[in-house]
Amino acid sequence: MADARGTPSPWIVQWAGLVPAGATVLDVAAGGGRHALFFADRFHPVTAIDRDTSALPERADMERIQADLEDGSPWPLPWPQPGRRFGAVIVTNYLHRPLFPALLEAVDRGGILLYETFMAGNERFGKPSRPEFLLKDGELLELVRGRFSVVAYEARLISEPRMAMVQRIAARRL
Ligand SMILES: C[S@@+](CC[C@H](N)C(=O)[O-])C[C@H]1O[C@@H](n2cnc3c(N)ncnc32)[C@H](O)[C@@H]1O
Repeated sequence: MADARGTPSPWIVQWAGLVPAGATVLDVAAGGGRHALFFADRFHPVTAIDRDTSALPERADMERIQADLEDGSPWPLPWPQPGRRFGAVIVTNYLHRPLFPALLEAVDRGGILLYETFMAGNERFGKPSRPEFLLKDGELLELVRGRFSVVAYEARLISEPRMAMVQRIAARRL
């Protein structure tokens, strides 16, 4: 179901069924929370983190964390439970490579990583266009190699919600 704060990505909707019922979900750089809400509506305990949580609705079943993920602080952040892991980690339309190790580590064994963002070639269609914001060819596959089992992967041009080059992966932690 679409939410006023944005329609969930078809990739996330397609592979959400991999996330075990009731598993905890971390939405990284959650924005308006379109995916946090998607999973909360499906009875997952959700944690949504962003430097600006003003667009994230307040819900009893959703933990909101306001934090700058790029200020060099150790991550996971000084949460109540250091080393906390999740049944699924969701990242869409966000790339900060220094976070990669922590993102992978935040996925529980058997848990799911759903990651989708822009890749090289997107500069033809607009922003993001700087290399630091664009995945390289095969980068998500390389990222999870040896640590996750890849369920699905795509690198392709999409036309909705607008023309863009994206790379996306659904993978289960070994
Ligand atoms: C393009 S939006 C994507 C939002 C959401 N993932 C989605 O797909 O709907 C990028 C998000 O990254 C967040 N963000 C950017 N830099 C950040 C930082 N240093 N720390 C935490 N969040 C950041 C922004 O606030 C914004 O909500």
